[in-house]
Amino acid sequence: MKVIKKIDEMRRAVSGIKSQGMSIGFVPTMGYLHEGHLSLVRESLRRANVTVVSIFVNPKQFGPSEDFKDYPRDLNRDSEVLEREGIDYLFVPEAGEIYPQGYKTYVDVCDLQDKLCGRSRPGHFRGVCTVVLKLFNVLNPDISFFGQKDAQQAIILKRMVKDLNLDVKIEVLPIVREEDGLALSSRNNYLTQEERKAALVLSKSLKRAQSMTEKGQRDSSTIIKEMKEIIGREPLAKIDYVEIVDMDNLDPVAIIEKEALAAVAVFIGKVRLIDNKIIRAKE
Ligand code: PAJ
Repeated sequence: MKVIKKIDEMRRAVSGIKSQGMSIGFVPTMGYLHEGHLSLVRESLRRANVTVVSIFVNPKQFGPSEDFKDYPRDLNRDSEVLEREGIDYLFVPEAGEIYPQGYKTYVDVCDLQDKLCGRSRPGHFRGVCTVVLKLFNVLNPDISFFGQKDAQQAIILKRMVKDLNLDVKIEVLPIVREEDGLALSSRNNYLTQEERKAALVLSKSLKRAQSMTEKGQRDSSTIIKEMKEIIGREPLAKIDYVEIVDMDNLDPVAIIEKEALAAVAVFIGKVRLIDNKIIRAKE
């Protein structure tokens, strides 16, 4: 595994790979890797000739009162883990090179970026899209892998790729969970033991949503009410949003026709966690 910090050097490596006719699989991350990230890495290793993983805690996707400074970082451990997985390149650019003095250009995926998480995290998806496009421009990947864990992010990035005619395929892979249902997240590391238990209300509420639709319930408001009750019973939990939305435009759906995205964001103590499930109506 080669570790590259400079954009120029990364570009030279990419030209070399491309000139040999090999495909590039790319997994963008902010590090502090867990099995969720590694599921994307392993799929890239299976699907592409060369796998590049990036680690960059992107300042532009954190709000002023968010956890940019405290976001967990452990590059040594991450490098060891990735080396063991057998990836080809680890790209760890510096913030000063990604956003040099005088930086002015941003990508807005209008409308979609303002829904769900966009409401409580204004500017977040603008930061995500900007950095992902920049990374795509440096790495020129054939396929890039993202997790369904951040469903809105994946939907927005797919839209960006389509709207800007980018020549990259976006693959979205299932959410990796702990045995008890908690979706893996670097932010789970902030939770105390008690909060860790309380955090199960996210996946519990989504499971309930799924079982309700499986039994024939199609009315979103009935399902949402039930989900909110499950979360509301946990004293450490405070709801940011509980929604059932269309998988393409993220608008709320009143009646679930075929399938819809049930998505939740909940503060457990001070930690904001998200989770989601695609729920399918009974045939
Ligand atoms: P990060 O939170 O590090 O996540 C990197 C990738 O791992 C994302 O595509 C995310 O959806 C996926 N992922 C996280 N938890 C997962 C889980 N439990 N199961 C499956 N996949 C999971 O998302 C970002 O970084 C950033 O916004 C980034 C795209 C790198 C841009 O800065």
